[in-house]
Amino acid sequence: MSEIEFDFAKDGPILVKKSEKVEYALCRCGHSTKKPFCSGAHAAAGFKADATKLELK
Ligand code: FES
Repeated sequence: MSEIEFDFAKDGPILVKKSEKVEYALCRCGHSTKKPFCSGAHAAAGFKADATKLELK
């Protein structure tokens, strides 16, 4: 069975990983131009958030 991980990057998107490979980068700052995915706009917006991880096994 594959392991799914949600890696909340510091000051950035939620990286959805499957078996350690990044499948998607989801926006969590609200400024993306290609929602629900991260467009990189978080940096210019000055988005700040802590890093954390959530693993589903
Ligand atoms: S987290 Fe990257 S654009 Fe929102």
